[in-house]
Amino acid sequence: MDKYVTGAVIRKLRENKKMTQENLAARIHVSSKAVSKWETGQGFPDISLLEPLAEALGISVIELLSGEDIRNLNRSSNMMKGKFYVCPVCGNVIQAAGEALISCCGIKLPPMEAEEADEEHAIKMEVVEDEYFVTVDHPMDKDHYISFLAAVADQGIQFVKLYPESCAEARFKISRVRKIYACCNRHGLFEVTPARAARRSPA
Ligand SMILES: [Fe+2]
Repeated sequence: MDKYVTGAVIRKLRENKKMTQENLAARIHVSSKAVSKWETGQGFPDISLLEPLAEALGISVIELLSGEDIRNLNRSSNMMKGKFYVCPVCGNVIQAAGEALISCCGIKLPPMEAEEADEEHAIKMEVVEDEYFVTVDHPMDKDHYISFLAAVADQGIQFVKLYPESCAEARFKISRVRKIYACCNRHGLFEVTPARAARRSPA
């Protein structure tokens, strides 16, 4: 744990929940004076209180400690709003249906922001029967390569992990795919819609 809950976070979350210091104190069986002390930086809640405190404030303990209130308001949010998280140390790739607090190798990972594919990372696509055959004309060296390709539809994701010395290609079932992603270990995440990729493909 590299961070502990701060008074400002407790106050903000309490006020968001429209609770008084007394209300919050009653929920977690402490005195309102204790809550007041935490909020003014004159003390910290005991570690045994983190769980009840997070529950009373309607967030997870990890959110409470990070000071970030990640609320995916649209709980039925579809995969198109999903995020990729890539660890720069071990290369782990985590895909989440919405924004989340993700750590790997001791680093808090930001969600990757996809850019429209540039010339160097042009994502090309051919339709072969019921599949998209996706290729990226890009080096696949140890130090610079496409680390994964993914096809995202409303209801799911198809993901292919790639490795140096392999080919930057993958096959995806066409079924309702709305976006194709390619991740370069040096240049980041690129995206293209099937319609746009098809326009770039050789005839
Ligand atoms: Fe690249």
